[in-house]
Amino acid sequence: MKKISPSVLDVPKNNLISYITQLTEWGVNNVHYDVMDNKFVPNSALTFEEIKSVYENCPKHIMDIHLMVEDVELYYEMYKNIGDILTFHYEAMDKEKLTSLIAKAKKDNVKIGLAIKPSTNVEVLRPFIKDLSLSLIMSVEPGFGGQKFMEISYDRVKELEGIIKEEKSAAIIQIDGGVKQENIKYCFEAGVNLAVVGSYLVKNFSKQTVDDLLTK
Ligand code: DX5
Ligand code: ZN
Repeated sequence: MKKISPSVLDVPKNNLISYITQLTEWGVNNVHYDVMDNKFVPNSALTFEEIKSVYENCPKHIMDIHLMVEDVELYYEMYKNIGDILTFHYEAMDKEKLTSLIAKAKKDNVKIGLAIKPSTNVEVLRPFIKDLSLSLIMSVEPGFGGQKFMEISYDRVKELEGIIKEEKSAAIIQIDGGVKQENIKYCFEAGVNLAVVGSYLVKNFSKQTVDDLLTK
């Protein structure tokens, strides 16, 4: 599977609904929503009301919600009925909290993803990988769009792919941060299934860009 999940972090808020509607008309059926609490990262992003309004007003699509937050339980409860996959950060909780989050999500039938920052060892995902629907390698420090892709990420994706195979997990691999035409091909070659594309697509918003990202 090679797909893109456009991040709408840098889309002007008054244009959000039409941007996403247009994407779905072009056949894109995953969209990436960034949520920030100004604690886990020094920034804020989409609010619950904005994401709910997308949920209510845009054509149906897979909403992957990237929660860069400290209070995992609070945000889990907030988004569990809206998001199709809720991705939290490994660094935001201890093992105990993570284990109980996974158990709760299983019971609620909610798909969970786990993200790691560029400096976090990929091996930390191994004990949880079987229970995850998605694993996210951050290719920039989380918090802001428009940063430069870290080249080390290719090796990290390959390492994660190895872990997924060894553990016989069905988790997909997502990459997030600095993805654009010049590097997406190498991300897919390394093993990425779902590439988040933020500012590059906002700046070059056309069906041609979407098609090129997936084929060139
Ligand atoms: C950054 C966010 C990303 C961001 C990606 O912390 O998680 O999803 O929107 O934007 P680009 O593609 O511009 O790096
Ligand atoms: Zn993100």
